[in-house]
Amino acid sequence: MSQLAQAGRKGATSGALTGESTTTRRYDFLVLGSGLAGLHYALRVADVGEVAIITKRKATDSATDWAQGGIAAVMDPSDSFDAHVRDTLVAGAGLCHEDTVRFVVERGPAAIDALRKSGVEFDPARQPGAPVPYDLTREGGHTRRRILHRRDATGREIERSLLARARAHPRITLFEDHCAVDLITTTKVGRTESNRVLGAYVLDAATGEVHAYTAPITLLATGGAGKIYLYTSNPDVASGDGIAMAYRAGATLANMEFMQFHPTCLFHPQAKSFLISEAVRGEGAVLRRRDGHAFMADYHEMRDLAPRDIVARAIDTELKRTGDDYVVLDLSNRDPAYVRGRFPNIFERCLKFGIDITRESIPVVPAAHYTCGGVRTNLAGETDIPNLFAAGEVTATGLHGANRLASNSLLEALVFADAAASESIARRPQVAPPGEVPAWRHGEATQIDEAVVITQNWDEIRRFMWNYVGIVRSDRRLLRAQHRIENLREEINDYYWDFRVTPELIELRNLATVAELVIRSARLRKESRGLHFNLDHPDRDDQGFGRDTLIQRGESPWISPS
Ligand code: SIN
Repeated sequence: MSQLAQAGRKGATSGALTGESTTTRRYDFLVLGSGLAGLHYALRVADVGEVAIITKRKATDSATDWAQGGIAAVMDPSDSFDAHVRDTLVAGAGLCHEDTVRFVVERGPAAIDALRKSGVEFDPARQPGAPVPYDLTREGGHTRRRILHRRDATGREIERSLLARARAHPRITLFEDHCAVDLITTTKVGRTESNRVLGAYVLDAATGEVHAYTAPITLLATGGAGKIYLYTSNPDVASGDGIAMAYRAGATLANMEFMQFHPTCLFHPQAKSFLISEAVRGEGAVLRRRDGHAFMADYHEMRDLAPRDIVARAIDTELKRTGDDYVVLDLSNRDPAYVRGRFPNIFERCLKFGIDITRESIPVVPAAHYTCGGVRTNLAGETDIPNLFAAGEVTATGLHGANRLASNSLLEALVFADAAASESIARRPQVAPPGEVPAWRHGEATQIDEAVVITQNWDEIRRFMWNYVGIVRSDRRLLRAQHRIENLREEINDYYWDFRVTPELIELRNLATVAELVIRSARLRKESRGLHFNLDHPDRDDQGFGRDTLIQRGESPWISPS
């Protein structure tokens, strides 16, 4: 396939008969994604230019909106940056970049201040005259109480405030139900200048037309890829679109094998993806086997508040040993009125499924929750493709290493969106305008004939990722997964080039790409560390694998030399 054909379809020639989409929409900044990172960045850069935010469903369909636990920051005089840094490094199992960790942690208090100024309200301290005006909760891996929250729906509060400001901003245009198909790069459109990003081709789901959105600077804030697994706490939009697009555009990705499984998602046939926040354990809930045994004491001295990889693996081990479908989370030691007030969202949702969490224990299982790897960025949020920035779950900044510390992700999204905004504003006047880009061409592509091909492939990927590339892996399982994805990738590619793009087809293609990146990275790492546990290599090998896994289009993955 020629590079130019990447901008369109097989057999495309110019002219209206081929179904060209001719509109190019020009902005100063293009933002893909409408969670915390995308909105905060947009609000800042709108000070100096016109901004388009592209979001593939409704703006609130984001992982931010679903975030329950909160945002970690050092606010208590008895806490310290050093302690937060240490907890992050311990959770990250030797792969965090200490400079990044310090960069993020030290910006915590200012980040909280920025959110407060944006109208975000956190729960106040429970005791009058407390040294910190906020109620600070605890989650796994934190040695101190340092998580600010809004009851058990912190993300919704953040999304609500920032989105209201973005919608009201005269220089921000929000395009909902618009799905980015691919980044536009100079290389892809056949220019001879060195590779840089010019914008993105975007499908308007309502009309089926694909338009070019160009801007001197583009921010990827598209979130993670939990949907590559059968069971996930993520919203449906989490199909790894930004990771796949950046990979196709030539960016370097890091640590794709590290998918975090949250230990406690509600186990109920109708409760799709419902998370039971780790803050519930932070406030005293205990994990038990169905026979009542509080098993976390058998695994770690921090018991129920051990780092997340340890708790998820412990549950997995207990389920495999007992043959049970779930373990339970027991909150019956807390006052019912407190539970209802502190966790109203979880209380209501569980009650809908017939579980009164003030009296009954909650059946839970682990589920894919957070993509620790992603597009590699520096401390200014820049990827290695000029004019492409990234922030939030789509990235690998060096903060999370091999396992993210709970509630560090909203903080990371905010700190890096802010850094990217400052750098973008400074850089914008020197960036050459994108110029003309080719229109998207449908070519000979026809309407999709059988949507069942998409659902079949989607289900197949998610199931074998769960079974072969899940909490516990082995060389043989990973090899099986590699064979499956190679076959599927070819089928999906043929389908992609033969039929007109739809949001479902775009997501499937991205899902397959990200699944393959996870498998290939996991196969390279022949050790066990953090979230990557391989039965055939159960020990950590700092000598051979104590650094990031990197992967780039056209190359085999490699371990970073430094
Ligand atoms: C939770 O509330 O348990 C999720 C918090 C997080 O993933 O950081």
